[in-house]
Amino acid sequence: MKSILMFLCLMMAQCGSQSHSELKTTIAARHLIKSPRDFYSLDLESISSDALTMNHKFQRDISWVLWEDLLSKIKIGESGSIYLFQSWYATDDIKRIFRHLYSKIPSSERSSHQTFTEDEIFRAEQWHNQAIWEQAHWTEARFKQWLEEFQTPDQFISLPGIERVLFNSHYLQHILKNYRLIIDCPQGAAEPCLPPFPQGTAIIKTAWQRQGPGFPLMHYVVDQNSLPDILMPNKSWQGHPSTFAPEGLIKMTNLSHSTFYLTGIHLSAKTHEHWLWSSLWWDPLQSPLGQDRPASLSSYHYQMCSVASYNQQDLRHNFSDASLLGFYNAFSTLDHTQTWCSNPYIEHGKNNQKTNCLGCHQYAGEISRSQDITEILNNDPTQLISQYRTSFQSDYTWSLFFGANNIQRQMQQVVSYFQTYPTY
Ligand code: HEC
Repeated sequence: MKSILMFLCLMMAQCGSQSHSELKTTIAARHLIKSPRDFYSLDLESISSDALTMNHKFQRDISWVLWEDLLSKIKIGESGSIYLFQSWYATDDIKRIFRHLYSKIPSSERSSHQTFTEDEIFRAEQWHNQAIWEQAHWTEARFKQWLEEFQTPDQFISLPGIERVLFNSHYLQHILKNYRLIIDCPQGAAEPCLPPFPQGTAIIKTAWQRQGPGFPLMHYVVDQNSLPDILMPNKSWQGHPSTFAPEGLIKMTNLSHSTFYLTGIHLSAKTHEHWLWSSLWWDPLQSPLGQDRPASLSSYHYQMCSVASYNQQDLRHNFSDASLLGFYNAFSTLDHTQTWCSNPYIEHGKNNQKTNCLGCHQYAGEISRSQDITEILNNDPTQLISQYRTSFQSDYTWSLFFGANNIQRQMQQVVSYFQTYPTY
């Protein structure tokens, strides 16, 4: 996992010359974007979990509909557009909203305060959309000047920053309603500290690759020919500097004139107990896993995989689509029922090419070190594919308790700030 972080760090130039504000969703960007836009074609609550887990064709069709929404352009302000998924909350947004809500609790009541109501959270979101005007250095004139810097459509795409993990409003609501349980949750607790996320919750993880001198765009081939070899034990995804023109994928150019391409993107969506997992990755060769994409996404050369359960009986039998069936036959030379979904641009490390998202995410909230995940991947990857848990500590989401920027830590920092400066 450490190598994943280093890889992303290099790819995103987070360790390079980009300024902090070019990477983050700033308060000015949020003022323009306003609250996150939800899926508009489908309610996650309305999707049949039986069909999702028993009919892979249906699962792929649903996943594509969600991707159609997420990759649709939305107009923000007068002058430009971003992709819908870019409107979702970054961790910094969540921290600012939590800080605002917490600051409103009278200091004498803070230690006993348990939750926020839906209405309070809604009002805090509205406040956050306007919070820019509470900061002395932002004036109408300065905001206008800042906005004018984003001149081309590609530059406008960089306006929300290059955030890696983004959350929809359902996620925000749930963690704010349960903030006290999150803050007080001891590390390695045996039982989940908070109730499961409600249906409708969704999270995105992106992989933006920088391209330019010294930053070649990598290309990973995932087709019938490469799969049997890639799926052998102890291999990993093998990328090569691309000889293809960077076409058919989402591009952004930031104000420092660096160019980034969205080569991979993960979605986890709470449709049923085990969530729907789906991932897109760039493949200029247009291999089978992209061929069933809807017409509205035909200009994108993204492949897609999805899973919604640990095992799926219909993988070989229920496919009418010949090219997809060929692909799954190659995949199922190893196992006929275990599900698979792994993004070559994101899931790095030995044996991670064979995983299926939820098998690894079942340990979220329980494992706190990347090193431990890497050890399981090296020694017994089946533990990260088959179901080993029946109770899910943080309901399949790592963001709550894992990593330097985790939500629990962000919230604890806010609380301890107010303990130190109680008059604020
Ligand atoms: C080997 C373990 C592993 C596998 C396999 C894996 N993930 Fe993750 N995932 C993680 C870890 C650890 C994090 C948290 C750190 C980070 O963001 O990199 C994470 C973070 C995420 C997040 C961000 C938010 C959160 O709270 O969990 C999403 C969304 C996500 N993964 C989706 C997926 C999808 C979709 C797949 C399959 C295509 C997948 N993951 C496969 C380990 C894994």
